Amino acid sequence: MGRAVKRIVFTEAQIAERVRELGAEITAAYPEGELLVLGLLKGSFIFLSDLVRHIRRSLQVDFLVAASYGDGTVSSGTVRLLYDPETKLEGKHILLVEDIVDTGRTLGRLMDLLGQRGPKSLEICALLHKHIAEELRHPTRFIGFDAPNEFLVGYGLDHAENFRHIPYIASLQ
Ligand code: PRP
Repeated sequence: MGRAVKRIVFTEAQIAERVRELGAEITAAYPEGELLVLGLLKGSFIFLSDLVRHIRRSLQVDFLVAASYGDGTVSSGTVRLLYDPETKLEGKHILLVEDIVDTGRTLGRLMDLLGQRGPKSLEICALLHKHIAEELRHPTRFIGFDAPNEFLVGYGLDHAENFRHIPYIASLQ
C-alpha cells in the first residue's frame, strides 16, 4: 500500500495567488534581454506551466532533467543529469525553476554547471524552500513559500512517482 496524505500545507487557492505574484515579480525583474525559463524536471512541470502564463514578456522555455532521490524520502546525495537543454544559454537571462529546495544539492551542482555556459544572468525560482540548504551557495532569488521540513507531495512533487497530480501541496503520513 502507498502512503496517504496527512495534511494540506498549501491549498490550490494559495498556490494560484502566489504563482500570480511571482509572475509579476519576475516580469518586473527582467525589463530587457532574452529570458530563458529552464524547468528542472520532473517536479517543476506544473509550477512552470502555471508560472510562465503569468510572466508578461517574451521568453523561451526549456527543461533539464536531473535526479537526486530514489524511491525513499531521504536524499541519496547523488545528482544525475539525464537531459541537457538544447537551447543556447549564452548571453541570456536564465531562470532555473525548481519545485522545492531541500538540501540544495541538486541546484548547487546545476548552478555551477550552467554558470560555465556564459549566461547574462543566472537565478533560481523555487516554489518551496525549506531553508535548510547548506549545500547551495547561490541565493534563491524568487521563492513561493517557506516550506516546513516535512516530506511534501502534490502540485508536481512526488513520493515514488505518485501524488504529482494532486492540485494542492500536502505532507505525507
Ligand atoms: C526533488 C525535487 C528537487 C530536489 C530537491 O527532485 O523535485 O528537484 O529533489 O532536493 P535537494 O534540494 O535536496 O536537491 P527529484 O530528484 O526527486 O526528481 P523529480 O523532480 O523528478 O521528482
